Amino acid sequence: MCGIVGYIGPRQAAGLLIDGLRRLEYRGYDSAGIAVVNGHGLKIMKAAGKLSVLENELKEKMPEGTIGIGHTRWATHGAPTTTNAHPHTDQSGRIAVIHNGIIENSSVIRKALQQRGHVFKSETDTEVLAHLVGELYQGNLEEAVASALREVDGAYGLVFLSSDEPGVLVAARKGSPLLVGVGENEWFIASDASPLLQYTRSVVYLDDGEMAVLTREGYRVRNLETARISKEVNQIDWDLAQSERGGYPHFMLKEICEQPESIWNTLRGHLLEEDGTARVTGLNLTDEELKQFERVIITACGTSWHSGIIGEYMLEEMARLPVEVEYASEFRYRNPVVDPRTLVIGISQSGETADTLAAVREAKRRGARTIGLVNVVGSTIAREVDGGIYLHAGPEVGVASTKAFTSQVAALALISLRIARLRNLSILQGRQFVEALQRLPAQAAQILERASEIEQLADRFLRTTRNALYLGRGVNFPVALEGALKLKEISYIHAEGYPAAEMKHGPIALIDENMPVVFIAPRDAVHSKIVSNIEEVKARGGKVIALINEGDSEIERLADATFTIPETLDLLTPILTSIPLQLLSYYVAVSRGCNVDQPRNLAKSVTVE
Ligand code: AGP
Repeated sequence: MCGIVGYIGPRQAAGLLIDGLRRLEYRGYDSAGIAVVNGHGLKIMKAAGKLSVLENELKEKMPEGTIGIGHTRWATHGAPTTTNAHPHTDQSGRIAVIHNGIIENSSVIRKALQQRGHVFKSETDTEVLAHLVGELYQGNLEEAVASALREVDGAYGLVFLSSDEPGVLVAARKGSPLLVGVGENEWFIASDASPLLQYTRSVVYLDDGEMAVLTREGYRVRNLETARISKEVNQIDWDLAQSERGGYPHFMLKEICEQPESIWNTLRGHLLEEDGTARVTGLNLTDEELKQFERVIITACGTSWHSGIIGEYMLEEMARLPVEVEYASEFRYRNPVVDPRTLVIGISQSGETADTLAAVREAKRRGARTIGLVNVVGSTIAREVDGGIYLHAGPEVGVASTKAFTSQVAALALISLRIARLRNLSILQGRQFVEALQRLPAQAAQILERASEIEQLADRFLRTTRNALYLGRGVNFPVALEGALKLKEISYIHAEGYPAAEMKHGPIALIDENMPVVFIAPRDAVHSKIVSNIEEVKARGGKVIALINEGDSEIERLADATFTIPETLDLLTPILTSIPLQLLSYYVAVSRGCNVDQPRNLAKSVTVE
């Protein structure tokens, strides 16, 4: 969502803030702005549109000053205009704030302030916060912010700056991530680590209800009731280079091509070949505790929800555990039946998705044990669950999730294997599963070596289409959902994923020569059924592209085009079948001139509900 960066130290702030905002662009935004305090007070520059628009305006007049804040906005309250862009100031124009989140009682506070003579320029909830702090300000910015935050409801990650106190940044976090960067006689505040890595790897993650006060002498963490809180300094373990494109034209292609490595990084250290099981000590659950659970609820959003459905097939098939997969946005509000015998798994690449975080909190409140499958180390969900597995897929910058998806499925395979071997899976079956997992990285690499074949399929069947269908059965039905989502979100083509057998119940009316249909059809337990589904589509003139295993002459004869994938265990096929679909959507989007890494209307991490 919005990107936040703040700086105090010996360097000129403006250029550093702009560079920091550029490293936050992947979060998705529609306007940007900075505020710097110099000898003449508070200098604010902001503009609607991409960062380059703001940079052009700054070219002639880069404000001087060694303390400042910067923001990229993803509009929630108010249109993406320059007026609504952050930073926002109080009535006096001497206090500025940048904010990520939603102030839920902003309209009530706005009305009260207006009755006391405050005049607002923007439609945003953030400006209300600025005016409230301005009204409470009596010479101490930190105290004015703490007093104001005691009056607001909602979620925020924010930073305040005042021309009356040019040596202080005041930050606060409740529901939107913030971390302090600890440099050499310089300190940073940001919504994630990307803007900091060229300066420091030492970071302090703020928790909900905490404030950070940064001065030229150091930083201090407290809560709203003034107590000082001591916090651990963490070390970021990935390099800036990793989060750069590394020579690829797009982050998305880089991340698709990293999957042989990222899948292995998820599995590394967890596979116990001899015992045919997985080590999952991060769950913080003994084997006895793991065996006690009577059901599992998996909750997530988007692509992570798709991997959750694959987890359902794995856990039910291998461990005979009843599983429900819930959209987090539904789970959090529907009064779910949850108790201590329920294991709730929250899946989230970013670890900051508001709905998933709320769902996990709701599950905890109702007494469930919670675990997280998260990629971003130190993220909120990762710190709030009772245990979990980090994906270790490396930074995923492209808005369309790719390597995180296959790593989520790999992590679900680890958990399923562990629990299954505690319940009814034999050591021989366990060893077979471990061997199949170990082969996946090389098999993924084989698929990626033939990416040009996918590019040709993209050009021949999907580049100019307005609609598409993705069909799969069993554990590849969620892969059909995921393939359709990938195409939708980066090429803006309407695509739907369906269980292949479901076509007869309505959607087959859509089939004609203008409807390309992608079948995910490995040689698994339902192969003969999907052959029939392909015949049904062909009989109605549909164009069929099929993902098949080597030597599947039956489908090769039927389909208009095929792409072969290596053989693996049925339950692990999604890790391989999803990769060609990622490439397919990528090539279609590139050929249509779409913004692959930052698709319109989307953000990498949806930290507001
Ligand atoms: C996937 O390509 C999308 N970017 C989106 O559906 C994403 O998976 C969803 O917003 C959940 O994000 P999370 O995994 O960070 O929680």
